[in-house]
Amino acid sequence: MIKNDLFLRALKGETVDRPPVWMMRQAGRYLPEFMELRKKYDFFTRCQTPELASEITVQPIRRYGMDAAILFSDILVIPQAMDIEVEMKPNFGPYLPNPIRSKEDLENIIVPNIGDTLGYVMDAIKMTKEKLNDEIPLIGFAGSPWTILCYCVEGQGSKSFDKARGFCFTQPEAAHALLQKITDTTIAYLKAKVKAGVNAVQIFDSWGGMLSPKDYQEFSWPYIQQIVDALKELAPVIVFGKGCWFALGEMAESGASAVGVDWTCSAQNARYLTKGKVTLQGNFDPARLLSPPETIKKMVTQMIREFGKDKYVVNLGHGILPNIPVENAKAFIDAVKEYSE
Ligand code: CP3
Repeated sequence: MIKNDLFLRALKGETVDRPPVWMMRQAGRYLPEFMELRKKYDFFTRCQTPELASEITVQPIRRYGMDAAILFSDILVIPQAMDIEVEMKPNFGPYLPNPIRSKEDLENIIVPNIGDTLGYVMDAIKMTKEKLNDEIPLIGFAGSPWTILCYCVEGQGSKSFDKARGFCFTQPEAAHALLQKITDTTIAYLKAKVKAGVNAVQIFDSWGGMLSPKDYQEFSWPYIQQIVDALKELAPVIVFGKGCWFALGEMAESGASAVGVDWTCSAQNARYLTKGKVTLQGNFDPARLLSPPETIKKMVTQMIREFGKDKYVVNLGHGILPNIPVENAKAFIDAVKEYSE
């Protein structure tokens, strides 16, 4: 039994005194204690060493006391496990030296055995659960198949992922074959994460908003729906799509317990589009954490009033930025904990 189960209760839609709070990318570069470890170990060493991954996961919890922890890892461990080389270059970001551009490239892509390739993630989960001591729930995550395809085809980050979209539109069969392999791997991976102890899972469709609403229905949504279908009986599922307000209706009907909202969609519009059916999560503009702490607190209180305290998880509208002062992140969390009607 988890002592602070506010987050899990909000995912079930239960009535609460205040909404739970966590921040996307809360384990990361705005924290001085994270930067210390970052000096000593490269990115994938941090991901692959359960002692380090679990330590980084609990760092923000110790400092701020969020209502949920998210396992430190990365969405790109999936292509890595599928035998696609992934590097994390300092001051550059992800780099995949052999991007997928043709049907032939696809032949080498495997749907791996999760225990053999990603066992270290399961060990990190078990170690994190011990450190959390059942105080708060632990979230596991994966990228959406479309978002993973973006990196596999583009080979690096991009503002528009033109090559990835071009691949889908010129070689749709190959694109669908790749999306299905990623989906199969992701389902097995998330099932293993739940078995190892995570209490909820979130799917990040970070680049869903690059697709037109129509193309989203072809290249992103059906694969997310497969993942929700496979997971929803095992753990609550949160679907977050950046720039995907147009898909909030489908997301609300999908069987997911919660739907993420970014800051370009108002609370009122998100409730309207999801017909009040589902718990919503979001949507503070990450750059708004640069405002003075007093302003942040007022805006957070206002945001809770707009979403309503029930069926709601307070979060940012995307990941926290590296340049956020630690006291501003604290103001965000504290404002939620101090909330009362
Ligand atoms: O939320 C958390 O605190 C858990 C940790 C987490 C990381 N990546 C650690 C990380 C999570 C949930 C992710 C997911 C992720 N990774 C996404 C989806 C979420 C989102 O923000 O849209 C995406 C698109 C990636 C891919 C990725 N990983 C990029 C583009 C980069 C480089 C850019 C950047 O933000 O630095 C990474 C590296 C990465 N993943 C870092 C961290 C803390 C920073 C690099 C470092 O610490 O050396």
